Amino acid sequence: MLSEKMGKALNEQLKWELYSAYLYLSMATYFKENGLDGFARWMEVQSLEELSHAMKFYSYLNERGFKVDLQPIDGPPTSWESPVAVFEQVLEHEQMVTRKIHNLVDLAIEEKDHGTNNFLQWFVAEQVEEEASAADVLNKVRMIQGGGGLFMLDRELGSRLFNVPPDVKILSVPTAN
Ligand code: FEO
Repeated sequence: MLSEKMGKALNEQLKWELYSAYLYLSMATYFKENGLDGFARWMEVQSLEELSHAMKFYSYLNERGFKVDLQPIDGPPTSWESPVAVFEQVLEHEQMVTRKIHNLVDLAIEEKDHGTNNFLQWFVAEQVEEEASAADVLNKVRMIQGGGGLFMLDRELGSRLFNVPPDVKILSVPTAN
């Protein structure tokens, strides 16, 4: 049984993962509007990843018999000054999500909820990757800011694929892999 406090905190994180999907889809829209389809593709994949994260929380809450309580999601920002500003926000956002995941782990440890702690460890590792990939793109965009290199990077980012994590069931909908 999940404690009331733990269940509520996991529901709150489910909301944040959905907000993340919203934020990255809004960033994809910004890049589309600015003719950078590769950047848009990268953000669309990022948004799908966030949806898959949300589904992990959804499935876990169901598995533990705790009511999924979908909360209102704020609208994301819709414009940025530059691609650099976008990726600065991506990195800041992921650092914020990391703090939230770590707080959840702290709570699971405090409550001796080993099942939830184990479930959350996937996210602890994922956040290390998320921060690293955001920092990597931010560095590249900073280096080429204003130059023709933006279009080269657009091609590179446009090759990103979404791999559905094997343990994520997206509403039992069959997927290609
Ligand atoms: Fe689901 Fe990017 O954290």
